[in-house]
Amino acid sequence: MSISSSDSKKRVLSGMRPTGKLHLGNYMGALYNWVRLQHEYESYFFIADLHALTSDYADTSQIKQSTLDAAVDFLAAGLDPENCTLFVQSQVKAHFELPQLLAMITPLGWLERVPTYKEQQENLTNKDLSTYGFLGYPLMMASDILLYQAHFVPVGQDQVAHVEFTREIARRFNNFYPSPPTPHASKEPDHLPAEVFPEPQVLLTPSPKLPGTDGRKMSKSYGNTILLSDPEPEIRAKLKPMVTDPARIRRKDPGNPDVCPVGDLHKVFSTAETLTKVYEGCTTASIGCIECKGWVADAIIEHLTPIQERRRRYEQDNLLVKEILEAGAQRASQRAGQTLAEVRTAIGLLPTLEGGT
Ligand code: TRP
Ligand code: SF4
Repeated sequence: MSISSSDSKKRVLSGMRPTGKLHLGNYMGALYNWVRLQHEYESYFFIADLHALTSDYADTSQIKQSTLDAAVDFLAAGLDPENCTLFVQSQVKAHFELPQLLAMITPLGWLERVPTYKEQQENLTNKDLSTYGFLGYPLMMASDILLYQAHFVPVGQDQVAHVEFTREIARRFNNFYPSPPTPHASKEPDHLPAEVFPEPQVLLTPSPKLPGTDGRKMSKSYGNTILLSDPEPEIRAKLKPMVTDPARIRRKDPGNPDVCPVGDLHKVFSTAETLTKVYEGCTTASIGCIECKGWVADAIIEHLTPIQERRRRYEQDNLLVKEILEAGAQRASQRAGQTLAEVRTAIGLLPTLEGGT
């Protein structure tokens, strides 16, 4: 019944909406950490296309391409299908099934109280978000996590409330439906009923401050991004006019890398050696900002070179990407099916005909 070889490792799961080609901010905020986690945990990473539908249902013209672009970005960034299960949410039917079962025990008030619900309804005034799907968004996310009985969820601060919501749903389910004792466990006198869902914990991933070229947070909506797929000349061209410490008006004015967005990029991408040169050169006005930006461009390009090499391989082979996603969906379905079978048993439903185990 269980996938025994991987039973000993704790499970990690995370997802990302397909929003088009990824930029450095997306990468440092998520993928960079996922790539490292895949070696330590049994890992599931997915493209949350159904989540995209909850708010972008009115125009789905880009969703397929964005999903494939995201897959190429994930693979290029170093997620290795040998080390993790990489899949598209809507390709795994279990992601439609569990939300329906969990919906039965989900109080409406809990959904209405999730902070992003009102916030987004108020902010995204160009979209009609008074839909069942949008209200149910946190429950879909909870299901994503619980389907893999994940122990850890690497996400940024903005998703912490959703993981907290997931923990509450897990607790409520476990209370209503303790799983039936296994024959072995029932022999132990002080045995507590096993729980179907472990309560997942946030794995707060270090996401360093990553400014865009205008000095504000790097974000697609500000048009200040550097894409993982940007070629070298474009990266240099984007960095050249980048905002710097406003105190450095002339070349001879000293500056401070701690108040300079270029300095922030150095802290993320440059070696300690370069960083020392930046601090010395900037505070004594012995280097110019153009030179300093050249160094940060070098560091970013060095980091992106292996990523772009992998990208070329996947971009040239669309079929390979689709095959990887299909294999991933199959593995995910198998693991999620195992959970669904436990869920059905705990609730007391008959098993499915398809044999979801
Ligand atoms: N809600 C997340 C976001 O918008 C994406 C997501 C969907 C997710 N399901 C998840 C993240 C499950 C972690 C776990 O970024
Ligand atoms: Fe910023 Fe570098 Fe110019 Fe200093 S030298 S202000 S760190 S760009």
